[in-house]
Amino acid sequence: MTGNSIEAMVGGEKRTFAAMELPRPFLEWQSEARMRMFKAMTQGGAGQVRVQPAHLPVLATWDAGDGAGDFPVNLSTRGMGILPKADKLAHYTSSLERARAESAGRPIQETLPARLRAMEAFYVNVDNFDTRLLGGLDIFEGQTAKNMEHNPRVALLYTGEAPKYPSFQFNAVVEKVLPGNPHYQFLLAARELFATDAFHVHQDRYPFGYICKIVEIKDKTPFAHAASRSRPAGHPGGPPGGLDGK
Ligand SMILES: Cc1cc2nc3c(=O)[nH]c(=O)nc-3n(C[C@H](O)[C@H](O)[C@H](O)COP(=O)(O)O)c2cc1C
Repeated sequence: MTGNSIEAMVGGEKRTFAAMELPRPFLEWQSEARMRMFKAMTQGGAGQVRVQPAHLPVLATWDAGDGAGDFPVNLSTRGMGILPKADKLAHYTSSLERARAESAGRPIQETLPARLRAMEAFYVNVDNFDTRLLGGLDIFEGQTAKNMEHNPRVALLYTGEAPKYPSFQFNAVVEKVLPGNPHYQFLLAARELFATDAFHVHQDRYPFGYICKIVEIKDKTPFAHAASRSRPAGHPGGPPGGLDGK
């Protein structure tokens, strides 16, 4: 990424995309949803985490190979995180790594408050966030990984909780990041901090990380569109209370 432009190889051709900023309502939702989750964990332990829509979007990739068949789109649920701004990346990575090191060998319930405090220090303030990037770690090296290798254009769909149902599609160009890369190390530190708590699928290794550089944004939040139309509650595009049929 150089300034506002992102270069990527697509089908053997060099393409250039314009970088975009994640919308403020999305960033605020990310902060609020994580802080709510951390509070619930502080009060009731890690077992409180049953769903995490702010952390688990659907990632769509495209199989451009000969065997793609009639349905080349591949979908997978992915744990995705916000990344710190470049000038704060090293600081938050070391503070998460330190919290983990200090917890090593102690009972997970006893160390949970300190681990949560380390995460809260980052997620509490939207100004800590890199507004152009989202990142995740690949575990299984499956179809998603194969597709991203051949075609770095991906789409993420986030859908949040009632009553607002924040929902966004982000089209992005992915960059693979390997162990040692500062973004990979932050994603790893954030994930490892809760690696042994109940809600995580336990993993021994993460072969690579991927940074999604945002190039297109579609606000799919239903009620954001309602203001411009007048539809009764209960109808798609109508005010809150409509989507669940109540
Ligand atoms: C709640 C949940 C979280 C997941 N998080 C990740 C993740 O962070 N990284 C990953 O590689 N796979 C993750 N998976 C697994 C993927 O959804 C999927 O099974 C995997 O990518 C294999 O599918 P594919 O061959 O289409 O890529 C997660 C699955 C679920 C249900």
